[in-house]
Amino acid sequence: MATTKSTIMSKNIIEINNICHTFADGYRGIKMVSLSIYKGEFIILAGKNGSGKTTLLRHLNGLLLPDSGHLIVNGHDVKKHLVQTRKTVGMVFQDADTQIIGDTVFDEVAFGLENLRVKRAQINEKVTQILEDLNLFHLKDKSPSILSGGEKRRLAIAGILVMDPEVIVFDEPFSNLDYPGTIQVLSTIIDLNRSGHTIIMATHDIEPVIYDATRIIIMDKGLIKEDGRPADIVKLLESYGVKEPCSSKFGLGIQPWQV
Ligand SMILES: Nc1ncnc2c1ncn2[C@@H]1O[C@H](COP(=O)(O)OP(=O)(O)O)[C@@H](O)[C@H]1O
Ligand SMILES: [Mg+2]
Repeated sequence: MATTKSTIMSKNIIEINNICHTFADGYRGIKMVSLSIYKGEFIILAGKNGSGKTTLLRHLNGLLLPDSGHLIVNGHDVKKHLVQTRKTVGMVFQDADTQIIGDTVFDEVAFGLENLRVKRAQINEKVTQILEDLNLFHLKDKSPSILSGGEKRRLAIAGILVMDPEVIVFDEPFSNLDYPGTIQVLSTIIDLNRSGHTIIMATHDIEPVIYDATRIIIMDKGLIKEDGRPADIVKLLESYGVKEPCSSKFGLGIQPWQV
């Protein structure tokens, strides 16, 4: 029995227990949320604007702390282990590309490692690898300001990946991207999941990602209302103000967005 339990525990990368979050003005953004997230999952956090997605995501790496309840990341209480938590959970913010500060694409990705005083040779090796993986290497000496929307968003992802997070959280990763940009970012995220990263993505538009997701969680008014396999949740989306993908509406089930 003990072996079974420890095996289950080790697969559990994030454990959220009855958390609440009240903002300074008294508004309760999160109301008694509990959630277990397992290694390797690809989770869509859906819900209309203001349902509490960003507020919940910000708890996953300690940017916001709950006023009651507990968050455990990789076995550690987030409140007491902020540095450890942020090593495990990388966060790509909504419109993360507006926060780009490096003079070149290479410098932008190297920035986090330079702050940690990692040796130059190691920085060069690691940044090169990540730029190659994300198909950005040919742009390494360019100014981030000249990149396309999709390239900028992938650069923001590269800046997070260089820190080796096991879990990557995306807040509306397709916002303000055109069709090619969305395809680029989507395929990057799918590759990250296939290479073993746990993905948690908040979005109000689930059409591009539903085929690759393993689980959908729907939030409404700071509460988790639904949590299950995409095939079981897809017909419930519109009752929470989230558009049902066209293929599902037309009776074709869940289909890949790109053909
Ligand atoms: N700093 C804040 N102070 C007060 N209320 C906030 C604050 N941040 C967010 N909220 C409110 O909390 C609710 C949830 O917001 P948010 O988590 O951003 O929703 P979503 O990401 O699902 O659109 C909204 O009603 C929003 O106005
Ligand atoms: Mg949001």
